[in-house]
Amino acid sequence: MQMMIPAGVNVLEYLRDRGVFIPAACSGSGVCGKCVVKLLAGSLDITENDKLHLSESALDEGCRLACCACTKGVVRIGVGEYGEQVSADISRPADTSHTFGLALDIGTTTLALSLVDIDEKRPIRSLSALNRQAVFGADVITRVKSSLSGRREALRKLVRESVAALIKSIDCSHLDVRKMTVSANTAMYHMLLGLDCSGISKAPFEPATLGGECLPLKDLLGESFPECGAADIPVNLVKGISAFVGGDIVSGLVSAYDRFFDANTLFADLGTNGESALVSSGRIICTSAAAGPALEGGELSCGMGGVKGAVSRVYRNGGGFGYDVIGGGEAKGICGAAAIDLISLMLEDSLIDKTGKLADVYFENGFALAPQVCLTQGDIHAVLLAKSAIRSSLETLLHLFNVTPDSLLISGGLGSYIDVKNAAACGLIPRVRNTKVLGNTSLKGAELSLYDTSFASRAEGIRNKAEIIDLTENEYFKQKFIEYMSF
Ligand code: FES
Repeated sequence: MQMMIPAGVNVLEYLRDRGVFIPAACSGSGVCGKCVVKLLAGSLDITENDKLHLSESALDEGCRLACCACTKGVVRIGVGEYGEQVSADISRPADTSHTFGLALDIGTTTLALSLVDIDEKRPIRSLSALNRQAVFGADVITRVKSSLSGRREALRKLVRESVAALIKSIDCSHLDVRKMTVSANTAMYHMLLGLDCSGISKAPFEPATLGGECLPLKDLLGESFPECGAADIPVNLVKGISAFVGGDIVSGLVSAYDRFFDANTLFADLGTNGESALVSSGRIICTSAAAGPALEGGELSCGMGGVKGAVSRVYRNGGGFGYDVIGGGEAKGICGAAAIDLISLMLEDSLIDKTGKLADVYFENGFALAPQVCLTQGDIHAVLLAKSAIRSSLETLLHLFNVTPDSLLISGGLGSYIDVKNAAACGLIPRVRNTKVLGNTSLKGAELSLYDTSFASRAEGIRNKAEIIDLTENEYFKQKFIEYMSF
């Protein structure tokens, strides 16, 4: 997409104000190097941050960081079409004599929407797209800060637009849609409802909501409401447990509980918030560790969510590495699961050492997997931090309750594509014989709630039982965190 930008503006601010999606993981601090635009006409100074993040040839081609670019005259720029990527995950024909519901998972990086046939008790269409709020940062903490610095309405508008675009794309206007369930973390609920985030920004972490609201779809989406013939359907927000253990985890636990839980089961959501639960002797112990967005692709130099164009898997191919791209075609970036694959294979080949250092030949410029996909030293460090946060939190739960897990259940956006062997080789997860990858359990729980009348009482049972462990002052966690900062 090309755009004319007037004189005297900051390019990122200008694009945000017009609803143009551009990844901005650091929310405009000049640190992440993600917000690249291309100068097509006019001039933009080259800043120190441009020099830091962009190669000489990229600068010569006109690439600039939008957050550091302030226009002196009118310029024309090119922006990637990131926001329009919608991936179809399931697609079956709809029986128009049936009744339907919508299930939505609002993840920090990706949103997923299912159209559920209530009579058949199964999803018939499922779509995912990037969360447009990424223009205000890749992780929850950066977005909460943006919300508190006057961007509350802008963030609400962006998530409403993301939801509306998905509902429009799923094409249900000719169907009898009766209800909708939303499942998300506590911060996303605040942003969706336009609530003050100050309570979740600092101790004692008192959220303005944990979810649990029920309101008509048109009220939830406001002016973004799409013409889908479902204006008055009730939308239920699955209630969470605390500021950091949200409705998405409750949904996930309900969806997995009956089928997958053994005597001692670890449930790990491999996302930005790193939520996990240990279910043992009738207790449910939950915690979360700020893993950052690296495992969802958010913090990596070529990272992206698990949507169309992302490398989703890396494997050995002859003497080198092969890869799969979601939706086929040219690789535009890499999602977290594939980054784990790549790191694991490079560890095996000693292209990365135990401390996470890239071999000398790749140290400066990174390892190029594809023309637009490179793994840099900074990326490996970001993965190490996320890996250590998650693994240490799992080990702390097991240590506190002196338990050896019988099974390990993996959920989250990353969980859909993760290779268990590679994840264990990197140290992200412990080696547990009965390990199952469940995919997006938050979405699965939301789907279940549409046709299973026991969902609400089971969710309530989990909330009542759940005990929350705070890791911030836990000495064992701190010790393990240092230990796991290597491979
Ligand atoms: S460098 Fe511009 S948003 Fe991060």
